[in-house]
Amino acid sequence: MSLRDYDNISPTAKLVAEMRRHSDIPFAEEIATRMGSAELVREMLDGDAPAPELLSWMAPTIEARYKSLETALEASGVKQVVELGSGFAFRGDAMNRTTPLRYIETDLPEMHDTRLRLRNELRRDGVLPVQEHVIFAPLNAVAPGDGAVLEQNLVPGEPVAVIHEGLLQYFTRDEKRAVALLIAGLLKRHGGVWLTPDFELSDDGSRKRWTHPHFARIFSLIAGSTQRDLRDAAFTSVDEVKDFFSKLGFRVTPRAQIDGTFALSSAERVGTTPEQLDLLRRSRILWELRLD
Ligand SMILES: C[S@@+](CC[C@H](N)C(=O)[O-])C[C@H]1O[C@@H](n2cnc3c(N)ncnc32)[C@H](O)[C@@H]1O
Repeated sequence: MSLRDYDNISPTAKLVAEMRRHSDIPFAEEIATRMGSAELVREMLDGDAPAPELLSWMAPTIEARYKSLETALEASGVKQVVELGSGFAFRGDAMNRTTPLRYIETDLPEMHDTRLRLRNELRRDGVLPVQEHVIFAPLNAVAPGDGAVLEQNLVPGEPVAVIHEGLLQYFTRDEKRAVALLIAGLLKRHGGVWLTPDFELSDDGSRKRWTHPHFARIFSLIAGSTQRDLRDAAFTSVDEVKDFFSKLGFRVTPRAQIDGTFALSSAERVGTTPEQLDLLRRSRILWELRLD
């Protein structure tokens, strides 16, 4: 795979930014507006406004994965963070307002440049605070050797939490293995934990209900532009996830993302029904991995 192939995944970050707009996640509205993410989603849907059904599933799904990752990170007590494929979330800046963290946000080089420009704009306009412990770095998560940039920024001997959301879904098993090896190296040197919502299961109960044609349109566009089918890349079961990563030296713990520790603000705004919420509660997983 060349770097350009991975760059094809980057526009999906705008789709996610647009879904976050419906939540109370910090900076979400401002970022979505500046990235023109509403226009991108309309273009994807041939000029249609997103169907209420698309929003009622997708917005709380994206909010839950963001907030559950943040909650797990706080609970881990780890004070230095590496985020892979950060996109337009700006979570480092959001978290550092209340929790002092050394936070290294990374993404592909082209996306890194776009993110730096956006961050400068948001700082200039007083939206984002200037925080010296939030560091941006370019990194291809599947390129062996790219990990060196992380060591330049990490405090030696301090544990690290490695996190990502919306990244591994796109990767083949070989690519997932490459990312796992990068993270295993970091955890061997520093200790710490790997946290992610990204190991999707093909029998996920909520996804079966994403039947509106807008879902099919969006997923076929993503498959076409990224040359990747998210369903093909999914795991079949929790046991398969455990088995795959245990062969790479990890102990895997799955937890419910929606566990009552945070409010799902988008649910009311986009009209998610109690039945939809219940399915999301039962199906969405946050994964914790530690070296054996
Ligand atoms: C769906 S977006 C999610 C972005 C962000 N995590 C969020 O939740 O808003 C996927 C992100 O992964 C990045 N990406 C794709 N391939 C990558 C790779 N090989 N290494 C690092 N980042 C990658 C893209 O540039 C994009 O920002």
